[in-house]
Amino acid sequence: MARTQIIAGNWKMFKTIPEAQAFTQELIGSADFSGVEVVLCPPFPALWPVAQAVSGTPVRVAAQNLFWEDQGAYTGEVSAPMLREAGCRYVVIGHSERRQYFGETDETVNRKVKAALRHGLTPIVCVGERLAEREAGETFKVVERQVNSAFEGVEEAAAAGAVIAYEPVWAIGTGRTASPEDAQAVNSFIRGVFGGLYSPAAAERVRIQYGGSVTPENAASLLAQPDIDGALVGGASLKAASFVAIIDAARRVQTAR
Ligand code: PGA
Repeated sequence: MARTQIIAGNWKMFKTIPEAQAFTQELIGSADFSGVEVVLCPPFPALWPVAQAVSGTPVRVAAQNLFWEDQGAYTGEVSAPMLREAGCRYVVIGHSERRQYFGETDETVNRKVKAALRHGLTPIVCVGERLAEREAGETFKVVERQVNSAFEGVEEAAAAGAVIAYEPVWAIGTGRTASPEDAQAVNSFIRGVFGGLYSPAAAERVRIQYGGSVTPENAASLLAQPDIDGALVGGASLKAASFVAIIDAARRVQTAR
């Protein structure tokens, strides 16, 4: 069975609650969600209002981060059960901005993946090489390490339902996209690594997105690649019109699969 394309809009630290609500209304009013999965990733304060606004629609909500303990004296942190309560079904884990600015490591990513799965949240696990790593020819080595580590100690059934996002760090927010061929090569490699960790069936099932300067203009050629099962979209997810155009591209690709 063909994997369903999953288009996620990572708003990062953008949009107040009223802005998030206005966006969501516009999205619901203008997009056709048939055949694809659409996920919005608002900042924490807007999670519940957005979850309310999409209730009864196929749109799902993701947090951009979580902490691995369920509760406790961890000032400033938010747990998986809290995110479930706030209406989340997904959570982005290990985004390169969290790795770069907030000390996230392969080990903390693994703890967060386990916490998410323990509470029925689907992790969107971000991996990807930095520019210096790409230039040193280390892309495959880096993503292999990140994938192996993220899923360490995670059972196959849970892991196969997760989403992996391949996001080359040099392509995030830079307007510089990986070519469809390069992105396909890495996504296919990631699927192979995942197959080695689990089984060919798990590798066939796991969805692997591409992220990094995805736009309405380049979405179709990226999403048409056989091992690219969707996009994690930053900048182009902030305006409903461009996000809808990317959803449309995914729908066309899905129909052709
Ligand atoms: P971008 O961000 O689309 O603005 O490059 C992608 C991401 O960080 O997930």
